[in-house]
Amino acid sequence: MLGINIYSAIKAEYDKRQKAAYDALEQRKSIVYEKIPRLREIDEEIQTLGLKYNKKILLTSGSKELLISDFNFRIGSLKEEKIQLLEEAGFPKDYLEPVYQCSQCKDTGFISTQKGDIKCACYKQQLINLLYSQSNLKLAEFENFSTFNENYYPDVVDEQKYGIKKSPRRQILGIKEDCLKFIENFRSPDTKNLFFCGPAGVGKTFMTNCIAVELLNRGITVLYQPAPVLFNTINEYKLRSLKDDTYQDAGYKSIYDVELLIIDDLGTESPSAARYADFLTLLSTRQANDFSKPCKTIISTNIDIKKMYEYYDERIVSRIIGYFDIYKFAGEDIRKLKILMEK
Ligand SMILES: Nc1ncnc2c1ncn2[C@@H]1O[C@H](COP(=O)(O)OP(=O)(O)OP(=O)(O)O)[C@@H](O)[C@H]1O
Ligand SMILES: [Mg+2]
Ligand SMILES: [Zn+2]
Repeated sequence: MLGINIYSAIKAEYDKRQKAAYDALEQRKSIVYEKIPRLREIDEEIQTLGLKYNKKILLTSGSKELLISDFNFRIGSLKEEKIQLLEEAGFPKDYLEPVYQCSQCKDTGFISTQKGDIKCACYKQQLINLLYSQSNLKLAEFENFSTFNENYYPDVVDEQKYGIKKSPRRQILGIKEDCLKFIENFRSPDTKNLFFCGPAGVGKTFMTNCIAVELLNRGITVLYQPAPVLFNTINEYKLRSLKDDTYQDAGYKSIYDVELLIIDDLGTESPSAARYADFLTLLSTRQANDFSKPCKTIISTNIDIKKMYEYYDERIVSRIIGYFDIYKFAGEDIRKLKILMEK
């Protein structure tokens, strides 16, 4: 599903951005050269100087530093003249500088550091956007905190019916408050993961969408995966990498290091022995990562936490209990309520 081609898609996007910056610059140049012919000469001089000194520096047996400072001096005075001419003609002084969408990486996607090239934040965001668009989360235009409506939750206490001591409305308002705190303290290693359980239609996925939108707006990388898709990604990766040890998969990698991973509908994946080991590894890896950078997980499921032992290995359940804050969603099936209200 998510193969290596995701990288070529991103590469193509950066090529496109660079070309756009280049074309726009060429257009500004032609305007300016027309008005101030001397500027074309200066640009040509800068180019030939570059070539000339490159060669000299390569060939010299003497001091390179001297040549370099000589070069820098001559380029510097040409640039000064250029800026002066531009300003005299009423152009901004950076009019002949390329304008990039991302000034950090100049639309290359990478920033060079002493330790080598690292991915720019804009690259990570693109990667995640692509993964995100493939992850079938209906980007929650309609499911966010501004459309959150607690009136769908009954304001009556009925422990027998709803399985909680409070009214479902008080319960959901409490959960919402904690989710806002989760967002606020997202980067802290002390912030626990979230586990949402409850019957169908009581707003678990809705709440994960609210959180996803809020964090995306704050520049956090988010990946949404229904459990069957998640386990398929893992299995596919294992099969492929057995046959081809250079196989890479951006989707697989981000399961382990995306800042927020949402696993929706846990328990609906097809049961198989291997999935337990995979799941255990995933939870432990993300927990370990979270100490150095945010690596949080939200799980939503119809399985009651008490019944988790019937579905999953004890080691998984004990990790969930240890690493996650557990929230019971309760109330009526809002899907049904909505249909009734439409009638
Ligand atoms: N707080 C809310 N405000 C407004 N609408 C809501 C709210 N919570 C849920 N809904 C709506 O109710 C319906 C069911 O919600 P949702 O899909 O989140 O339930 P769920 O608990 O994830 O169910 P399932 O267990 O079947 O996945 C959706 O149409 C959703 O938009
Ligand atoms: Mg759901
Ligand atoms: Zn960038």
